[in-house]
Amino acid sequence: TGGITTLDAGFKNTSSCESAITFLDGEKGILRYRGYTIEELADKSDFIEVIFLLIFGELPTSEQKKKFHKDIQSKSLVDADVKKILDGFPKTAHPMGVLSALTSALTAFNPQSVEVSSESDMYNAICKILGKFPVLVSWAYRKEEGLPLAYGDNTLGYVENFMKMMFESPVEKYVMNPVIVNALDKLLILHADHEQNCSTSTVRIAGSSHAGLFASISAGISALWGRLHGGANQAVIEMLEDIKADGGDYQKYIDKAKDKNDPFRLMGFGHRVYKNFDPRANIIKVAAEEVLNDLGIDDPVLDIARGLAEVALSDEYFKERNLYPNVDFYSGIIYRAIGIPVPMFTVMFALGRLPGWIAQWREMRLNKEPIGRPRQLYIGATERAFVPVEER
Ligand code: SDX
Repeated sequence: TGGITTLDAGFKNTSSCESAITFLDGEKGILRYRGYTIEELADKSDFIEVIFLLIFGELPTSEQKKKFHKDIQSKSLVDADVKKILDGFPKTAHPMGVLSALTSALTAFNPQSVEVSSESDMYNAICKILGKFPVLVSWAYRKEEGLPLAYGDNTLGYVENFMKMMFESPVEKYVMNPVIVNALDKLLILHADHEQNCSTSTVRIAGSSHAGLFASISAGISALWGRLHGGANQAVIEMLEDIKADGGDYQKYIDKAKDKNDPFRLMGFGHRVYKNFDPRANIIKVAAEEVLNDLGIDDPVLDIARGLAEVALSDEYFKERNLYPNVDFYSGIIYRAIGIPVPMFTVMFALGRLPGWIAQWREMRLNKEPIGRPRQLYIGATERAFVPVEER
């Protein structure tokens, strides 16, 4: 249709859709899922309830919650042949690449999940990915650790079952620790959705072509992997470890982050939307202190994180640019305290974000949104005649 469009690289000032799922106010640091504040949900709800809330729009009754969890558990079995795909990866493979591959492979074992012409088709596909995804996450971890793969125990809660699948040893019973379960439940709630972030926009645009749910989630996993997005939680801990190895000299890293000639960025700092504080970072910071205290762990990296944040927050460069700790800045400290290895940090982000991806994909499909297809401003060559190779 021609017509001049305006360039908005990174969609900084473009709304891609109307959505009723998550509300953010970047100036006031407000985050609400379906109208409920993240502070209340993190404090009073649990991950299964938040999954139901994000996808279906209301907090479940106890009956609905029980049925939803049963429906998810009934579809949690992953075809044994998926293990053959896992076997093809080297042990050194990054678990995010493993997870996106295995998630996309689920389509091959559940071809009927691609066409979701009815609400019940959609519900089946949603319960399948919610049931199978924690299994795939635990397989990615156990492959890396050289542990036999597990299928979990459907008599347990969603988070308890995940912890057991991840950490049960073939030679000793896994002992559930409520401090760890509660910390993980809270982290998963805090990561569950975040309106039109990079990976969610990827899920929506992939799903807008009517690619299946599993393939669209796989695309979202790949987008989340980047160190500017979900991959930042791994990069934060690596940065804090570097600072620790460097004698705790965080001023040197702050100066590097301010140096325009140095590509280094303070990982876990800054956000496209939050311009005062990331409410999730505030909650995670307190939770990190509580978990380390409850588990009797003294992690010097938490002190470095606190010191680094304090200095950065009083530095003109960061204040002028409204750069604050984001969701990724403290989360790795908790993951590490509960025994999750660093390469699995972004996979844990994906486990938390799965319900948001599903909710946004479902909203896009129910709203019958058109296929995503942005325009461009062409700045290439004007028309020119072909030149045979002998004359070039
Ligand atoms: C997540 O979108 C979401 O909602 C994402 C997320 C979610 O829940 O889905 O919240 C999860 O991805 C959190 C962000 C994790 N990423 C990091 O921590 C990586 C480090 N942060 C940045 O690279 C950056 O802050 C972004 C990517 C988060 C935001 O980038 P923007 O909005 O495109 O901002 P920008 O890169 O244009 O930066 C604006 C200015 C620049 O300086 P000037 O050119 O104006 O002088 O701020 C500077 C940047 O150089 N800047 C930083 C910085 N972040 C921005 N300088 C040093 N360290 C940083 N971390």
